Amino acid sequence: MVRRSRFTTLAVRGSYDHAESANHLGSLSEPAYLATAQHFESAEAMRAAAAGECDAWVYSRRGNPTVGYLEATVAALEGYRVDAEVSAAVTTTGMAAVTLATMPFLSAAAGAKPNIVASPALYGSTVMIFNKRYGAERDVAVRWVRDPLSVSEWERCIDEDTRFLYAESPSNPMVQLVDIPALAALAGQARIPLIIDSTLATPALMRPLALGADVVVQSLTKAAGASGRSMGGAVIARHDIQARAQPSELTADFAGYLRSGPIRDMGSVLSPFNAWTLLSDIRELRGRVDTMSANALSVAQHLAASDRVAEVFYPGLPTHRSHGIAKRDMWLVDSDVNGREAVNRFGFLLCFRPVGGVRAAREFLDRLNLIWRANNLGQVKSTATIPAIGTHKQVAESGPESAPVPADMVRLSVGLEHLDDIIADLTQALDER
Ligand SMILES: Cc1ncc(COP(=O)(O)O)c(C=O)c1O
Repeated sequence: MVRRSRFTTLAVRGSYDHAESANHLGSLSEPAYLATAQHFESAEAMRAAAAGECDAWVYSRRGNPTVGYLEATVAALEGYRVDAEVSAAVTTTGMAAVTLATMPFLSAAAGAKPNIVASPALYGSTVMIFNKRYGAERDVAVRWVRDPLSVSEWERCIDEDTRFLYAESPSNPMVQLVDIPALAALAGQARIPLIIDSTLATPALMRPLALGADVVVQSLTKAAGASGRSMGGAVIARHDIQARAQPSELTADFAGYLRSGPIRDMGSVLSPFNAWTLLSDIRELRGRVDTMSANALSVAQHLAASDRVAEVFYPGLPTHRSHGIAKRDMWLVDSDVNGREAVNRFGFLLCFRPVGGVRAAREFLDRLNLIWRANNLGQVKSTATIPAIGTHKQVAESGPESAPVPADMVRLSVGLEHLDDIIADLTQALDER
């Protein structure tokens, strides 16, 4: 039996091995191919390349070697310990990945009005895609599941015109999880895909494909690209998925279909420079997410014990509604090898409501000295925002169906600074004595 590499080895090496390096003058790291196009020796070489008869990349919207290295690494990590073939397509941003992971399933079928079934606990722009871009502009019925933890509610929403089930797990910002194996069973019975945005977990803590999901969305702008230099997204899918009203070329290898069809035609290709920076960041994903998550748990416990804080939302706390599922599904990859017990890690994101309402939340934000006031998450630098006026402003404006985000809630993305310094900044900003 061939022994497969461990997660960190795959992250460090990806698909770039000794043989591959020999094709690049022995370069130890993946070269950044910033050229937009490839030169050919002859007309015949050009014809053969365009026909896909030899190993060539031709034109960077069709494919690019550096982007290809990132795709191979992302597929290997998200497909780690998955009992199926898995491939990935990377995109300009996480939102492009959300669009590309969902839109192809909505193609018109004679006489039917497609519907989608989704958790309302979603990032603001995803709510906008579903409500506005699909609902209002394309007449797709969006069925929001009021309580995403209720599997029977999901089941009641599915009918013969449902095209997919969609959830974030954990969700941004309230860090709610869904029961992926239970939803995968529902999707399997209905012969439709289960699509999970797993940006907040990253494959270092949870791999939805291993839990039964069919398609995974990642915003690589977040913890995968934690140094904060590049935006990017990824759609990762198992091969041979089930979908209604779709050609077999789509279901056989969905990510491959996206690369050779929608991404190439519509042009949302990742820049090779961004792919190159993301490749460097993703190598250290496991160690980084481990430390950030350990810091976040200590921060959540500190806040929960503070009399300046009314409520804390973090799946690592027993008070959180998703705690049971998080304990079952979120653990540091490979912490269980060589006979050791698996280590739970609950991610780097948490939310809390300070005592004193909206005013107290704004005052807290204004007092931060170390933690950055910024609308990004998963970075090596700790960041804080008030979602109702920042990241999730669109949700409040997009209609009553979507999940409410309390106006006085602060979202904290815990980074790699020393825990003592993070806690000291929170203590002074909360005006704790
Ligand atoms: C869970 C989740 N999915 C998708 C996105 C979109 O990613 P991007 O900003 O890279 O487009 C975000 C952004 O915050 C997010 O939090």
